Amino acid sequence: MLIDYPLKTGTGGMHRLDVLNRLYNPTSLSVISRFIQSPEQENAPFSVLVAGCGIGWMSKEMACRWSHCQVLGIDRSHKQIDIAQSLPVCENLDFRCVSVHHLARENHQFHLIYLRWVVVYQENLVTFLEDLAACLAPGGVIIIEDNEPASPGVAIQGSAQHSEVQAVALWESVCRGVIRIIGQPEGLKDRLMGYFQTHGFNSELETVNQQVLKTAEEKLLLFLGIRESSESILKSGFSLPLLHRLLNGLYDLQQCESPIHFVRNYILCFRR
Ligand SMILES: C[S@@+](CC[C@H](N)C(=O)[O-])C[C@H]1O[C@@H](n2cnc3c(N)ncnc32)[C@H](O)[C@@H]1O
Repeated sequence: MLIDYPLKTGTGGMHRLDVLNRLYNPTSLSVISRFIQSPEQENAPFSVLVAGCGIGWMSKEMACRWSHCQVLGIDRSHKQIDIAQSLPVCENLDFRCVSVHHLARENHQFHLIYLRWVVVYQENLVTFLEDLAACLAPGGVIIIEDNEPASPGVAIQGSAQHSEVQAVALWESVCRGVIRIIGQPEGLKDRLMGYFQTHGFNSELETVNQQVLKTAEEKLLLFLGIRESSESILKSGFSLPLLHRLLNGLYDLQQCESPIHFVRNYILCFRR
């Protein structure tokens, strides 16, 4: 039995989810937007399923952004759906506590299905993808976003770590379709800067010579305060006391057992 993502509640847990959503949502939304029909193109309301929606923040962003779409967020965890259902009401958004496998037996079909960080938790990816395919309307699009297993920090204890290549091969075995693979998230630095500016790290960040940080990981590690990157952070112009202050601030902010790691996602889009 695979473990599920441990939902951290309380202020620290919510901060952590806030960071993750700020980091990843803009890229995810810009990929999804390519496949959302405009209101003029439609014959019937464009239906979107967010499978394994967790606490529903991404589903809510989608519903607000595309008010002509009907969005359903589902999750098999009551705890997650309880939080999602406490979000401010939005007319074109619903949440249900149901697994993908059960939903597939209800004969609902959606124009677009989106899932992020969900395939990694599936014991049997083939049956999971078959069930998702059953929920997809003819001509519909499925977008799978997940951690790239080769990415640093991705080892989630007890999870399955299906690679992009495996997911593509398995999808082709259950459902033929055009495959488009879209690259990695861009602009992480700017999004993180925005986050930390709103949390009062503004003056510290101004003193940093960002040019010294070469890789995206180095830059992100700076912001997320992972200790291993201290050397490169110091190279960038941080004084040691300032570094400690930043790290302590970040640890307080996270207040979680598991720190936030920079994990590269892959995003796969399939049209049925
Ligand atoms: C890591 S969380 C990701 C949440 C959300 N997609 C996001 O991007 O923040 C994975 C979620 O998928 C849900 N999940 C996993 N397998 C599922 C399944 N077969 N059917 C429905 N929900 C599932 C879990 O309960 C958990 O809430």
